[in-house]
Amino acid sequence: MTDEELIALARAAALKAYAPYSGFHVGCAVVSTRGEVVSGANLENACYRLGICAEQSALAAAQHAFGLDQIARIVVAGGTPGAHGLAGQQPVTPCGGCRQALLEAAQLSGHDIEILSASGDGRAMRRDTIRGLLPHGFGPEDLKDAD
Ligand code: THU
Repeated sequence: MTDEELIALARAAALKAYAPYSGFHVGCAVVSTRGEVVSGANLENACYRLGICAEQSALAAAQHAFGLDQIARIVVAGGTPGAHGLAGQQPVTPCGGCRQALLEAAQLSGHDIEILSASGDGRAMRRDTIRGLLPHGFGPEDLKDAD
């Protein structure tokens, strides 16, 4: 799938978010090394701290569909639902917790993961890698000396 198609998928996924508390809808598409695609959206809870980010939701789907160690790239888009689909001008990059979850997948596979972060309206974007967004992060590679 092209960047544009994946951004459209992430924006569509965001519209299926359950985000009654923040009103901020995030969607995430995860692409495997073989080109398979799964998606997810944020899922909030009345006990606010139990909410799940779109990236975590999509990573769980990715593990079931093809495995956490087969992730090549992800696309994230976030904003507010409007008359013409998801709106918003700021690209949404993964939060710190999601960066940690993505680093787990990157270290499992042994290769970096590309992250395309898009605005709600899909017009603004930035491209990063997880190792760039979480330099010197702690992951499975750092547990090699554990019992
Ligand atoms: N959110 C995500 O889903 N992913 C991120 O990387 C940033 C934040 C969600 C969590 C919460 O439901 C809402 O956006 C506002 O923080």
